[in-house]
Amino acid sequence: MSNSKLNASIEAIEYIKPKIDMGSIIGVGTGSTVNYFIEELAKIKHIFKGAVSSSEASTQLMESAGIEVFELNDVNEIIVYVDGADEVDTSHNLIKGGGGAHTREKIVASASNEFVCIVDESKLVKTLGNFPLPVEVMIKSRSYVAREIVKIGGSPELRTDFLTDQGNQILDIKDIKIENPLDLEQKINLIPGVLDNGLFANCKPNKVIVGKD
Ligand code: 5RP
Repeated sequence: MSNSKLNASIEAIEYIKPKIDMGSIIGVGTGSTVNYFIEELAKIKHIFKGAVSSSEASTQLMESAGIEVFELNDVNEIIVYVDGADEVDTSHNLIKGGGGAHTREKIVASASNEFVCIVDESKLVKTLGNFPLPVEVMIKSRSYVAREIVKIGGSPELRTDFLTDQGNQILDIKDIKIENPLDLEQKINLIPGVLDNGLFANCKPNKVIVGKD
């Protein structure tokens, strides 16, 4: 039981409550912090319509808690997206994807009116890059993408025994200097075979809630 993750989730519920009504769809991220958020969200399921999920894990959790889950293609508006992060810098750029769900997370975050990030204090950093940067790659492009990542100064490592919800693999980039998160996010995504990387600089949270113990 993590009090800080729970407290961040409770604060997020208080923040979104005045924004939602019976027609509202809420975007929901992935991870251990979000699992606490889903538990809290289930307590107010009678005051909103449903959710769009960023992963199979969160879908399962929400459905078993009685929250209706909609396909992104079937909704017109997502009022707010709530998700965790692996690192948050002082400008609110993020590294995400520790759970390998960052591609869908970035899509749902981008499709939402507002992005609220919930973290505990351990996620706050001055500069991103201590946490290995996840890159989702098509299996057939893995070696080529890895060589291109080495050229831009990173050390890619294949995440073993892991496939994303989309059936792709993850390369975790270690030792990469992240001086300009937006530049690096775009540079990596330009490598053919990359689905998306875990830098959220182009799609930063509008609000970061830091849960205290
Ligand atoms: C999953 C993510 C998560 O938000 C991130 O890994 C943080 O997870 P946790 O709340 O378990 O620390 O990006 O892809």
